[in-house]
Amino acid sequence: MRTGDTTKKNIELYDYSKAGSIPSTDSLFGESRDKDGPLAPCQASKMLLHPGRGPLSETEAITQMKQFFNSYYADTDNSNPEKAKEDRLEEVMAMIEAEGDYKHTYDELSWSAKTAWRNAPRCVGRHIWRTLRVVDARDCLSCREIFDAICKSLRLAFNDGLIQPHAAVFGQRHRNSKQKSPGIRVWNGVLLSFAGFMKENGDIIGDPKNVSLTNLAMSFGWEPKVGNFVLLPIVITDANEKTEIFELPADIKAYTVNISHPTEPGITNLGLKWYAIPSVSSMMLEAGGVQYTCTQIAGYFQDTEISVMNLLGESRYNLMEPIGRKLKLDVSKNSTYWKCTVATELTRAVYHSFQLAGVTMDDHISLSDKFNSFMKEEIRTRGGCPADWLWIVPPLSSGLTPNFHHEMLRYTLSPSYEYQSGPEDYFKKPITKVKFYALTRTIMCFINMMRKSIKKRKRITFVYATEGNTAFTYAKTAESLFVKAFYVSVLPITALTEKDELKKCISDTDLCVFIASTFGEGGPPSMAEEFNKKLRDKLYDFGGLKYTVFALGSTHYAKTFARFGKLIDSEVEAAGGIRYEKIGFGNDQSNQKAEFETWIEGLYNRCCDEFLPGGGRSVEGKRLYRWRYCSAKSLSKSFQEAQGDAHKVYEFSLEKKTNLTTDGTDKYMLLTLSYKREPEMNGTELFLPGQHIGIFPKNISSRKDQVLKELSDVPFEGIPLSLEEKIAVHEPWRVWDNNRSGLTLTEWFDNIVDLNRLPNIQRKGLDSATFFGKTPAIKRRLYSIASCQNKNNTVDILIAMHEFQLNGKTLTGLASNFLRHATPGEKILGYFSKTNGQMVLPPDPSIPIILVSSGSGFAPFMSFIKAREQASRSGKKAGRIYIFHGVRYVEWDFLEQLLKKASRVLEMTTFRAYSRSYPHEFRGSCLETRAVIIGYVQDLLGGQEDVVAGVCREGGYIYACGGGKVVAAVQGRLEKILQDRGCSTMQKLIASGRYQEEKFG
Ligand SMILES: Cc1cc2nc3c(=O)[nH]c(=O)nc-3n(C[C@H](O)[C@H](O)[C@H](O)COP(=O)(O)OP(=O)(O)OC[C@H]3O[C@@H](n4cnc5c(N)ncnc54)[C@H](O)[C@@H]3O)c2cc1C
Ligand SMILES: Cc1cc2nc3c(=O)[nH]c(=O)nc-3n(C[C@H](O)[C@H](O)[C@H](O)COP(=O)(O)O)c2cc1C
Repeated sequence: MRTGDTTKKNIELYDYSKAGSIPSTDSLFGESRDKDGPLAPCQASKMLLHPGRGPLSETEAITQMKQFFNSYYADTDNSNPEKAKEDRLEEVMAMIEAEGDYKHTYDELSWSAKTAWRNAPRCVGRHIWRTLRVVDARDCLSCREIFDAICKSLRLAFNDGLIQPHAAVFGQRHRNSKQKSPGIRVWNGVLLSFAGFMKENGDIIGDPKNVSLTNLAMSFGWEPKVGNFVLLPIVITDANEKTEIFELPADIKAYTVNISHPTEPGITNLGLKWYAIPSVSSMMLEAGGVQYTCTQIAGYFQDTEISVMNLLGESRYNLMEPIGRKLKLDVSKNSTYWKCTVATELTRAVYHSFQLAGVTMDDHISLSDKFNSFMKEEIRTRGGCPADWLWIVPPLSSGLTPNFHHEMLRYTLSPSYEYQSGPEDYFKKPITKVKFYALTRTIMCFINMMRKSIKKRKRITFVYATEGNTAFTYAKTAESLFVKAFYVSVLPITALTEKDELKKCISDTDLCVFIASTFGEGGPPSMAEEFNKKLRDKLYDFGGLKYTVFALGSTHYAKTFARFGKLIDSEVEAAGGIRYEKIGFGNDQSNQKAEFETWIEGLYNRCCDEFLPGGGRSVEGKRLYRWRYCSAKSLSKSFQEAQGDAHKVYEFSLEKKTNLTTDGTDKYMLLTLSYKREPEMNGTELFLPGQHIGIFPKNISSRKDQVLKELSDVPFEGIPLSLEEKIAVHEPWRVWDNNRSGLTLTEWFDNIVDLNRLPNIQRKGLDSATFFGKTPAIKRRLYSIASCQNKNNTVDILIAMHEFQLNGKTLTGLASNFLRHATPGEKILGYFSKTNGQMVLPPDPSIPIILVSSGSGFAPFMSFIKAREQASRSGKKAGRIYIFHGVRYVEWDFLEQLLKKASRVLEMTTFRAYSRSYPHEFRGSCLETRAVIIGYVQDLLGGQEDVVAGVCREGGYIYACGGGKVVAAVQGRLEKILQDRGCSTMQKLIASGRYQEEKFG
């Protein structure tokens, strides 16, 4: 800007968009109330030049009053303005003398409100200033009366969406009032605005701009349901300094617009909304030395105010990155212009939505054009137009608007709308100041303590033994806790089978923490088999090693609960180790994660107390969680990573689902899943009879909706999320589990947390990040493969539907319910599981076998029978198969359906037990059936001692599979038969692999 000579009282303003344009001249700035007018040092980007305008001094008020009447009478129609002015001034002076103050007439008030708008340098939409309807609300005294007038004013302004610029002016600040009195105030910045709820972890739900007002409203008893778009109540202080809050009535609450995008469902699905009217309520109308501390003025929105400023603003809803990701833009660098695309698309969505809702709005380019014309007209007719370039130029496509290229002058004319100090000042609490030297001393103490403790850091080693990765996840959680105060290493248990690693571990470690699960029949996970053997063979010397154990297990396996962990605990001690802390247990059937967290935090506190000089820091026991947006990750990749190198995750596709029952229930089902074979896998065997696939089940119950309703907040859908955790307020945030990062909210709900096993915590009002942090993760479920490897690359599984009672309600098993509802073509993530514990067929197919099963325990036997069928079809002799099978009802007996084809080539004899049907309900079979009883499968064996003894003598194999209790009972019965017949002992059969069993739970 080329500044002119101040004495000449005019400044030339150039429009650089047009080469050689004739500048306009502003002479109005000479009337500016600012001391130096626009020639003051440039403060162009300053938001507030003073903290808020307080009461006027006597002299200021009188000077303003005189100027006011000059302007008023010069601007309004009057046959004899000079005379009218003099009369009015006389009247006003008399009023001031008698009462210390004067009152505007309605016309003066209305002119003031309109002219103050016309004068507002920051308002781009004031070309319609003349259309402002002004309501005189000066007779509203109580908070209730003020609120009712506000509602009325809002209704008139909304005008069925066709926004009518509207102002309401309440009682003036009395000149004689106490200096500190704020006057009548509405503390909300705008009448319709969304609350901002600050969570414990510092995150904000809703509009961060309104956190303090939200807190203020809550301190006055407001009890909202937390959410992103919750309209704040109106907080009013009347002239007697009584403060009350008022919830807006339902019809006004409906003055909001849901934001949808014409073509991008990603934006629509975010569920954004904004309020329809920008109704400023915290500014003061100052006119003629009178201050109206409570004034509402409502116009209509410019699109970018909502999109760029409110929804994308970093200090506001901060949705730039989430929307960029939703739109699948490359957000990795600025030069992809993704931010510009987001801003444009969201602005388009905002404008589109307001149009759709029939609510007045201007796009930023049209409004800029309108302002440009207005400004020119003001300069022509009035001699100037105060304008704040920074506010007038829109935040999007600024250079494309005429205002960007036009010089402007910012100055203050009277009447005006003024900023005032906010509620923080009026309601503030005294703050206890910490003296500087005390602060310095505390900091120095802390630094010294840190220095000392870092020097003497102890080394903690976490050793994990896992099959399904849980123990590994726990080791990582422990690492994140201990790393603050100790040197930490995390090692797989296989490391301890290498001499050097073991030596290093023992000599360098101050404490070794084993985290180990149990598998098979009380055995180690497969990765720990060598360690287990050496431990049992007493080949270790742990002399002097301080250690402790956390043992994972399941009380499903009552007899062998956490046996491997217990074994480590006793054997390491026997080998010279020093038990530092009592063994901890995590039961898969209860909240194992919470059990681990409690145990490890206890251990951490003890270690801090004992290993750190000066005690060290202890955990407050309060974990905090928050969401962060991050890069997307595919589910299968996430599960693949959770498996480590152990298994490759496949995307199975459901080919066929067969109901195996005849009574209309779907208790048993056979599912055929197809998978894609990697070319390099050709020729290799992916699985053998008796092996399993691990399935990652999904929640499909309606519990998700129920939980969603209870939680206080929900992050935006469709955006990849990472859950972060910190173990105490002063600790840094850490990613909860890297393998789970990058999933959307739906994926978190469907695939990560087990909604059947909700933790025992109050969910109502809980934030979603904490909910996910505290709820146990879904574990993959094993299913026996019920087929043989084939050219079609398919695999069968036989599932039983699980139902159980909880708190008087019937719940369905998570995985079985998921599989039951899967539809053909559906993708199911899983892997081929190979452990050492599974059942295997005898190498010679001619050897007779006995298969004893209950329910879905028949599944692995299907793979055996298929293998024998293949052998027989390829010309090999297949030995006789004796099938002892038990189910509840005849209608649930699936042997006919499954074995019809195989019975053509195999010699099979079946024995059936129905625990809840009568034998006569069994109506013959295409299979050779030698016995049908009412009872359990172990009872069935009791009557067939000859068969058992015969097979045993022939060198045959016996297999049992099903629920843990049935299998144990079968083993007991077999033992008795063998004893009675004197043909062998269970011990011998087990040792030679001729008796094998598998328990499903
Ligand atoms: C090696 C192996 C092979 C297997 N093969 C097969 C197979 O071929 N076919 C087959 O059908 N199954 C098989 N299983 C069992 C299978 O893995 C699952 O355990 C079974 O399907 C149940 O899983 P679910 O998710 O449906 O039930 P879950 O949700 O795990 O529930 C199972 C049981 O846990 C209890 N429970 C669950 N939630 C709660 C709660 N909130 N409160 C109290 N109790 C609760 C109930 O008693 C319920 O019945 C096998 C298991 C193993 C270990
Ligand atoms: C096939 C199988 C056998 C299991 N055997 C036992 C057992 O004998 N005793 C026990 O306490 N837990 C047993 N469990 C439960 C696991 O130890 C438990 O689920 C643990 O949390 C798994 O941890 P991981 O994922 O680190 O391997 C068994 C689990 C499966 C799937």
